[in-house]
Amino acid sequence: MKKSLVFLALAAFLAMSACGGNQTAEVKALQSRVADLEKQLADTYKPGFGEFMSGIQVHHAKLWFAGLNQNWDLADFEVHEIMEALENIQKYQTERKETALIPSLDPALKTMNDAIQKQDLAAFKSSYELLTTACNNCHRDVHYEFNQVKTPDQPPFSNQAFQIRK
Ligand code: HEC
Repeated sequence: MKKSLVFLALAAFLAMSACGGNQTAEVKALQSRVADLEKQLADTYKPGFGEFMSGIQVHHAKLWFAGLNQNWDLADFEVHEIMEALENIQKYQTERKETALIPSLDPALKTMNDAIQKQDLAAFKSSYELLTTACNNCHRDVHYEFNQVKTPDQPPFSNQAFQIRK
């Protein structure tokens, strides 16, 4: 979005420069607009890798209680939240070399999705273990092995119900 704004400003700038004649003031105005937009772009806040991971941590925990309660709609929602956060890492954290390993979760996520679609509790439990191991394998490979994830003992929040609404 912001990139396309800069692009538009540049295109306008080039069009103006091609026109000739009395364009100096307009060119100057556009130049300063481009500089403004570049500064805005540089100052734009984007979540860090760790912030995305903290979000994923919450969805990973909720996914467990959704599945245990065979609340498959919620489990489906949570696994997709994880996938969305992973896509965002790939979009916003391109400069981090760890990002290249994000697809290492794909097989485990696919197994998890299949278990949820089949509403199969046993398959859900084993794919949860597979997913958690894949999370920790990446942490190990990128030397963040001190961030160990595991199957949670308790729901992360008391203000969310994991059972299907009766
Ligand atoms: C691409 C490799 C990779 C994968 C896959 C991965 N992580 Fe991470 N994770 C990291 C890195 C790198 C950090 C440290 C980020 C930072 O703060 O710079 C991290 C940090 C974390 C943290 C600590 C966050 C904090 O700030 O306290 C948690 C929790 C976490 N990950 C959970 C998970 C879970 C759950 C999964 C699987 C669903 C997962 N991670 C998959 C690379 C990965």
